[in-house]
Amino acid sequence: MRTVILVGFMGAGKTSVGRALSQRLGWPFEDLDDRIQRREGKSIEQIFRESGEAEFRRAETEALRELLGELGSSFRVVALGGGAFVQPANVALLEEAEVDSVFLDAPVDELLRRCEAEAKERPLRQSPEQFCELYEKRRRSYMKAAIRIETSGKDVDTVAAEVACSLGLG
Ligand code: S3P
Repeated sequence: MRTVILVGFMGAGKTSVGRALSQRLGWPFEDLDDRIQRREGKSIEQIFRESGEAEFRRAETEALRELLGELGSSFRVVALGGGAFVQPANVALLEEAEVDSVFLDAPVDELLRRCEAEAKERPLRQSPEQFCELYEKRRRSYMKAAIRIETSGKDVDTVAAEVACSLGLG
């Protein structure tokens, strides 16, 4: 069994790099946010709006627990949402499952530019100042991932190739 978990802030490219990496390795890809939406029958934005962040975090941990419980003997590439790797309960679940965590990093101004260019609704991206503050608060947690890959100025396939290489799967 082998699972690669991509972590990092909003705009890090976890989903797009995850898809490219899964194609490269021939492993299935999963986005944890998609599983949360399926389980809850609501969009991420709706969960935040109707129930608040604490409820979203509960749903996120439950979805992660479910996903890790299904791994069995499979191979998988998983993208976490930007806040998932910051929650101690999730980190404990990931440690227990002995998966490979990879932090996709970029300067915060580039992360902000990428998010602004996307149509995706992000309840925790409010103002540029708040976005930068949240990034600063979380960066130390992301640095606890086993591997850090700098993504600044690189295209998705280049980053996916670097991730594969850094895991000895290149
Ligand atoms: C969040 C990031 C989002 C999503 C939710 C909360 C966060 O995922 O999980 O809106 O706390 O940073 P992306 O990082 O894929 O945007």
